[in-house]
Amino acid sequence: MDIPNILVVDDSAVFRQLLLKQLDEFGSRVTQAEDGQQGLERALSEPFDLIISDVEMPRMNGFKFCKEIKNNPTTRNIPVIMLSSLDSDTDIDKGFQAGAAAYISKAEANGGLCSTIERVLEKFKSNHRHLILVVDDSLTIRALVQKGLETAGFKVAIAENGKQALALIEKNRPNLILSDINMPVMDGIELCKTLHTTTELASIPFVTMSSNSDRSIMRRMMEWGASAYLVKPFNLEQVVITVEKLLSDHFLIVLKDKQRLEAERSMMLASITSLIVALEARDHYTRGHSEAVATLVSGMAAQMNMNPDEIESLGIAGRLHDIGKIGVPDNILLKAGRLTEAEMSIVRQHPSIGASILGSNPSIRELIPVIRHHHERFDGKGYPDGLKGTQIPLWARMTAVADTYHALTSDRSYRRGMSQGKTLSIIEDVRGTQLCPECVDIFIDFIFDFVEEGVEGETPQGSNLASHKKKQGVQTGRIRLVS
Ligand SMILES: [Fe+2]
Repeated sequence: MDIPNILVVDDSAVFRQLLLKQLDEFGSRVTQAEDGQQGLERALSEPFDLIISDVEMPRMNGFKFCKEIKNNPTTRNIPVIMLSSLDSDTDIDKGFQAGAAAYISKAEANGGLCSTIERVLEKFKSNHRHLILVVDDSLTIRALVQKGLETAGFKVAIAENGKQALALIEKNRPNLILSDINMPVMDGIELCKTLHTTTELASIPFVTMSSNSDRSIMRRMMEWGASAYLVKPFNLEQVVITVEKLLSDHFLIVLKDKQRLEAERSMMLASITSLIVALEARDHYTRGHSEAVATLVSGMAAQMNMNPDEIESLGIAGRLHDIGKIGVPDNILLKAGRLTEAEMSIVRQHPSIGASILGSNPSIRELIPVIRHHHERFDGKGYPDGLKGTQIPLWARMTAVADTYHALTSDRSYRRGMSQGKTLSIIEDVRGTQLCPECVDIFIDFIFDFVEEGVEGETPQGSNLASHKKKQGVQTGRIRLVS
């Protein structure tokens, strides 16, 4: 560390000498002042790295002195350590309220002063490396937050709305953004979304500041990538602690790791999606099957109020569920007519082949059980592992329903696709044997939410569930989700 330039403010010449001796051993350059008034003049005349101030002093006491230092933009980012024989909770609180970075009693000064100085200097040096962008249309909030952050040693840039913020970010990238939600020109939601869809900006921690009434929006902001939110009115300590925590090495490593995994995941998915397209190009009967299963299973997930990440992952799992068919030879996969038992046993390997194709990549780890277990049966008679009931992962049980529904409604080389009514009737019949009963119920609820009204004659006829829904007063008509 460079030699720190320290200002010592104390009315006691004896105590100043004691401090000088200690600080000399610490290797600092020291300037002295006899009271707050003189301390203020000295602080304005040269740059200091640190101020150590007594509390009880004539002309201007330590609390007033510290407040003056923190109110002046020139001296605001000099950390102040208060050193006093007054050490009640009220006094300590008054010191922090005035903007002190630390408060120690004179009795502790002998043992703890040097370590406190080191800690405070290190923290301010680290904070000073960080630029925080404050985005708010309110001048009062901007000034308040700016003051709080500068007092803690941060560099601060300010913008009045999202658009101004983006222009500033382009010129000088901040380490963290604190943003309001409701702003003219471009609001905080738009700003957060824009940043998190721009690869090189997505890793900047984004903190939302907003009033109580915006709480529901704030939850969604977290889903769009915000790292934290502060509810107005907040105190400045809360702001500083949140910012320091988010800029800690640990958090940034976690955030970068997350970004890396997401990048890997999208690259991996892009290449696997091309494999699926290649796979489906081999057999026109299954063309579009994976996409349809993805739509159905993510619809079921939405019906169950799963969170957006889970809905997205289930959709991806649906798209990839048959990836293992790549390992099934054409003469079996494309065979017109029924398969022999030997051929069937080869087809039955596709879930394990699929799981081993995807198995090594941690970015899609949660999808593997869906791929491996989508042909298990609820009664334990499925494959590859003969799992039973809730031993089968929920996502795999859901995918099995969507897969069965779409397979039955689609044309095959050996039969025409069934009507939706007949399909639902079959699904009802295997509810609890082949398919998970709860997942079937969710599927039926989901499908009926897509029913169009008033197209008589195209109802899922023959299905008891359809009649049951009708009895409940649900208007049924043509299901438009699956053609
Ligand atoms: Fe399959």
